[in-house]
Amino acid sequence: MENKIKWGILGLGNIAHAFVEDLKFLTEAEVVAVGSRSDERATAFAQQYNIPNSYGCYEGVVQDPKVDVIYIATPHPSHEECAMLSLKAGKAVLCEKPFTVHAKETDELITCARENKIFLMEAMWSRFLPAIVKVREWLAKGVIGEIRQFKADFGFRCDWKPEGRLLNPKLAGGALLDVGVYPISFASMILGGRPARILSLAHLGITGVDEQFSAVFGYKAGKMALLSGAIRTETPKDAWIIGTEGVIHVPNFWRADSATLWLQGKQAEHYEMPLEGTGKSYEAAEVMRCLRAGKLESDIMPLDESLGIMKTMDIMRNQWGLLYPFERKVARFSFLE
Ligand SMILES: NC(=O)c1ccc[n+]([C@@H]2O[C@H](COP(=O)([O-])OP(=O)(O)OC[C@H]3O[C@@H](n4cnc5c(N)ncnc54)[C@H](OP(=O)(O)O)[C@@H]3O)[C@@H](O)[C@H]2O)c1
Repeated sequence: MENKIKWGILGLGNIAHAFVEDLKFLTEAEVVAVGSRSDERATAFAQQYNIPNSYGCYEGVVQDPKVDVIYIATPHPSHEECAMLSLKAGKAVLCEKPFTVHAKETDELITCARENKIFLMEAMWSRFLPAIVKVREWLAKGVIGEIRQFKADFGFRCDWKPEGRLLNPKLAGGALLDVGVYPISFASMILGGRPARILSLAHLGITGVDEQFSAVFGYKAGKMALLSGAIRTETPKDAWIIGTEGVIHVPNFWRADSATLWLQGKQAEHYEMPLEGTGKSYEAAEVMRCLRAGKLESDIMPLDESLGIMKTMDIMRNQWGLLYPFERKVARFSFLE
């Protein structure tokens, strides 16, 4: 690896644009190759950002010898295939959330990455934002005592486009995998992984995906998380961490730029840090730190935790009877326990 870390990108949609813009904040990062299903889109994207290599297929990027690490920015059902393609070509991988559609796919990716000693990470970018780093610092110091409850919601009103990736079951649409993964991942981060009990409800809309859901998670020692997600309803997007000695409030927790600590009913500390761009540079910086240190996974977004999050979402979908059409075709599809 030369001085700069060289990125390749698969899938040139909305988030790929944001990611390339945000990489400009990292002087040691360079995008050297992009791949699209279409030659024209690849060429146009490469020209827009002055990227040297473009391919009208994903294979070209993963086989490009100049590329150190691949960012996967395709819709959910192709995350596993694209990540596997990249790992098998020996490339490190940062894969968009949700890591895969279900836990079995995540398990296969982790096995491949570990067997071949290649870096792999879920792009749960919120974890790396300065405000969330500050929240973890407060929690590590025990400032709010023992955590008793966590509450978080993430809902927005998407346009009515049944064929688009948010509402289309063929693209594993729905609130859980698109936005629900954020509060679930946050709960996992602060409450110690998978819940012991999960109670959940979803409303499946006319396209067959979950337009909204709510869940109560139960953890050891009576700790609880109350979570919800929605793709046809705007919600406040607040996170509240409630402890025996105080409360932490994180507005817009998924793209947090502030957090407030309350002790004995009074504001004790307020932290604010505007995001660089859209905030994707922080996760990319973590990937690059890990690669330079020769690490195969991030301590902040570990692979076993990503697997646990996928298992939790499998259980919830199982409770709702929500299988995507391509899962129904698998004769004996079963969720991982
Ligand atoms: N971290 C975040 O803040 C954030 C925000 C939004 C989305 N995401 C995640 O990023 C991923 C992509 O989301 P997006 O909003 O960028 O989606 P998008 O705008 O629809 O772009 C996805 C791209 O994937 C490629 N693709 C491959 N197979 C496809 C298929 N069957 N149908 C449609 N596109 C296909 C297309 O690029 P080519 O035609 O060029 O190959 C498409 O432009 C999703 O997993 C989503 O959950 C993350």
